[in-house]
Amino acid sequence: MTTQPIRDIVLITGASGGIGADLARIFARNGHDLVLTARNESRLQSLADEIAATGAARPVIVALDLEIPGGADRLAEALDAKALRCKILVNNAGYGLAGKFAELSGPAQLAMIDLNVRALTEMTARFLPDIIAARGRILNNASIASFYAGPGMAAYYATKSYVLSLSQALGFELRGAGVTVTALCPGPTDTGFQERAGLYAPVFTMMKPMDCMTVARAGYDGLMAGKSVVLPGWFNKLSAFLSSIVPRSLSMHAIGWLQDTRRHK
Ligand SMILES: NC(=O)c1ccc[n+]([C@@H]2O[C@H](COP(=O)([O-])OP(=O)(O)OC[C@H]3O[C@@H](n4cnc5c(N)ncnc54)[C@H](OP(=O)(O)O)[C@@H]3O)[C@@H](O)[C@H]2O)c1
Repeated sequence: MTTQPIRDIVLITGASGGIGADLARIFARNGHDLVLTARNESRLQSLADEIAATGAARPVIVALDLEIPGGADRLAEALDAKALRCKILVNNAGYGLAGKFAELSGPAQLAMIDLNVRALTEMTARFLPDIIAARGRILNNASIASFYAGPGMAAYYATKSYVLSLSQALGFELRGAGVTVTALCPGPTDTGFQERAGLYAPVFTMMKPMDCMTVARAGYDGLMAGKSVVLPGWFNKLSAFLSSIVPRSLSMHAIGWLQDTRRHK
């Protein structure tokens, strides 16, 4: 009986568009084999075709809804069937919901928490043994929202605070194990995020969304350098710094006002 040699791969969630798709392009360009997942199979297929056309290995795609528990097990089965081992995990899938907590639907907010928090935790727990064995890396897509309490997107900001906190503590626990954990903390970025969240384009020129590829490249470089937190661009660096000196009682006024002006009425 012949056994296939095990091949290390990068597993990216939310790879059908936005930051996840650009991360896939960057990893492929740097010679990594990929497994890509999201719900939209045809967009995953197009991305796999595009990457294969560059001469890189064709990514394996697995279409699934990570809001449904058990997605990580299904992905692990798909990897096992092809003798693939997750060396680098990119927990990128996520979305926001704009609106006051009391005005948004409870089930909709729970579904968002299922993706942003539960699925990210499930993926991390499921693949961590392989990542440790491979002395690999984890990239979690958090947000500049991780540093603040966010009236007008309260549950979304809270999910992203969880992602940053988990990433930093897990990275601390894994020091010495040869595994790094990086939290990417973008601010407004030009992707499908604003539309899905129900937000207008930001009102200030200063807040012009960042280019998606620039954010993805910052995430990739920070991950490979083993950084704990990556803040793409000066505005996000400044925002994170301000969160450490401005009392929440003040920052919540500013964020609540900002989110109110950005929301679709
Ligand atoms: N853009 C920003 O301004 C911004 C700022 C800070 C942080 N972020 C974070 O960046 C990450 C990527 O977002 P993005 O900006 O690239 O937005 P995006 O273009 O909307 O991409 C979101 C990705 O998540 C996937 N996804 C959504 N629901 C899913 C589900 N139930 N199961 C599996 N996959 C699902 C989407 O694919 P399908 O629809 O095909 O499932 C898509 O590939 C998110 O975690 C977001 O919170 C974004």
